[in-house]
Amino acid sequence: MKIKSTQQAINTNQADQVIIGHFKGQKTNSWIEELGSEIKDQFIARIKNKDFTGQTGQAQNLYAAKGQVITVLGLGKADKLSATALYENTHKIIQAAAKSRSQTVAIYLALNEFDDIDPEQATKLVTLASAHAEYRYEDTKAYKKDNKHKLKELEVAVNDSQTAAFKQAKAMASGVSAARHLGNYPPNVCTPKYIASYATKIAEKNKKCEINVLNHKQMKKMGMGALLAVGQGSANKPKMVVLKYNGAAQDQAPIALVGKGITFDTGGISLKPGANMDEMKYDMCGAATVIGGFVAAVELGLPINLLTFVPAVENMPDGKAYRPGDVITSYSGKTIEVLNTDAEGRMILCDTLTYSQEFKPSVVLDFATLTGACVVALGHQASAVMTKTDGLYDDLKAAGLQSHDRVWELPLWDEYQKQIDTTFADMQNIGGFPAGTITAGCFLSRFTDGQKWAHVDIAGTAWNSKKDGATGRPVAMLTQYLINESQK
Ligand code: BES
Ligand code: MN
Ligand code: ZN
Repeated sequence: MKIKSTQQAINTNQADQVIIGHFKGQKTNSWIEELGSEIKDQFIARIKNKDFTGQTGQAQNLYAAKGQVITVLGLGKADKLSATALYENTHKIIQAAAKSRSQTVAIYLALNEFDDIDPEQATKLVTLASAHAEYRYEDTKAYKKDNKHKLKELEVAVNDSQTAAFKQAKAMASGVSAARHLGNYPPNVCTPKYIASYATKIAEKNKKCEINVLNHKQMKKMGMGALLAVGQGSANKPKMVVLKYNGAAQDQAPIALVGKGITFDTGGISLKPGANMDEMKYDMCGAATVIGGFVAAVELGLPINLLTFVPAVENMPDGKAYRPGDVITSYSGKTIEVLNTDAEGRMILCDTLTYSQEFKPSVVLDFATLTGACVVALGHQASAVMTKTDGLYDDLKAAGLQSHDRVWELPLWDEYQKQIDTTFADMQNIGGFPAGTITAGCFLSRFTDGQKWAHVDIAGTAWNSKKDGATGRPVAMLTQYLINESQK
């Protein structure tokens, strides 16, 4: 679907379907007035007989003689409309439009007139919700039956002052859609090799991009023992994908992004139960997030340098697989006692975090579907942030609010560190039942000494259910963070 902005008067809009926002209790509607008496009369009749009241989420179709459908979308009381309600209402109405015969849809919501949502945020919400609602996974369907009703074009009505926000949202939507594709693509196809080739294609599209892919032999020479231990039970050999974007002067320190790219997580020898194991194809959503953020940053041409690291590894049980009890030497030289092969994400991340420091980044952010405990703590609403760097949580929180892709902080207090101490190595790879998300963060913190660093656990936000699949979160938050950094 093509997304563009529109400013033209509503009465000349040619879209098959035009969606208009309406607040409850509002006597008139300037969009309706513009559309002429044919539509206005229908609207007034609906209001009069209370078929339509403007209640939040309510939709009323009106029909123009030439076949155009005008859908009036209820937004509730003007002073009660929250960001979440705006997002959800838009999502619902575009999802319905995508299932209808409409091929071109325009959405007019007076984005600068909300009491509690600033115009830029409203623009982003509506654009992101629309793109999200239109997405349909078809990558592995032979018979694409829905294709003929698919939306071809979406126009979002914005004022001049919102065009920058619209552009940003459009780039975020590109990143989100890349991330959703990667997340949903099945693990027999979305292998480390596939992720490397996908990233290569991205890099080849833009002169300011470079790519370097390390294979397992190179990583072995370098001594990335922890990452390789996880991959050694799989026939799909690990890759380290390094995507680089040069958007600023060479001497400007890059922002480093690290994304967990477990293309399938069986748990390894500490095998996961069978039920819902298929969902562990999403265990590369950290990788999908940083690749999505990269796509968006490049599309926006942000004046920053970016380095994106994706350790792409499959965690399988096999005669060669690593086992509980193994002591592994990580790339940093620190040793790790493996107590559970299912705590593999931190094993591949620790070597990647160490590697990223060689590039002297100004800040490192890692994204990972790291712990089931994170889903217990925060559900599907917020990604968890852990950091010891002053101000970094505040920056991520602000970016999350601006893009409606929110995060919440968990403490990385030193008191938790002792849970991963062990007799047999410098640390063990699990911290027991209490605070499982935090002890995973503690583990990573031991590889980021002296760095400005934050860890983002996205186990609850990267996907919802099998039906809806990958959400593309938190690409929007990450992109907003990068935009904000580029403006500092
Ligand atoms: N990929 C999982 C985390 C996960 C679980 C994400 C469920 C989303 C939904 C991770 O590799 C894992 O298995 N973590 C273990 C850690 C434990 C062994 C300390 C977990 O959360 O159970
Ligand atoms: Mn695991
Ligand atoms: Zn995992």
